[in-house]
Amino acid sequence: MMITPARWQHILGVARRAKVLAEKLRPQDEQFAQDMFLLGMLHDFGYEFSEEPGRHPEIGAEILKRQGYRYWQEVANHGSVTVTEVSDELFILSCADMTTGPNGESFTMQERIDNMSERYGENSHAHKKAIIGAKRLQSDPRFRYFKGVL
Ligand SMILES: [Fe+2]
Repeated sequence: MMITPARWQHILGVARRAKVLAEKLRPQDEQFAQDMFLLGMLHDFGYEFSEEPGRHPEIGAEILKRQGYRYWQEVANHGSVTVTEVSDELFILSCADMTTGPNGESFTMQERIDNMSERYGENSHAHKKAIIGAKRLQSDPRFRYFKGVL
């Protein structure tokens, strides 16, 4: 597959959103905001190298692991709704991803869920996963740091 111009817009949108969320979670930590921006920039590049879209997190993570990239596991686990240990970094990435549309638009989680339903169908795996994912994020105690932003 290829990273389409729309996907590129999504990636940049997620990166900018992740930076804002990092500033909310750790207001005094400028490096953390930079790191989370970069994590956003890197989270979906695996699409360029995966035959099946569903494998893009694992393929991207494998390349990043090879570079010794600190957050390769967050890239591997993004979009998963079964991870039990959600690091601050994965939490930020997931919240940013769930509030950025396919063309980089700022969405509420509900808008993102509705968009999934329109694109893939109401009974699609992607739509169901988005509903579960949003619930998990919203019920996390860290979510309150993002009030007013998300
Ligand atoms: Fe992704």
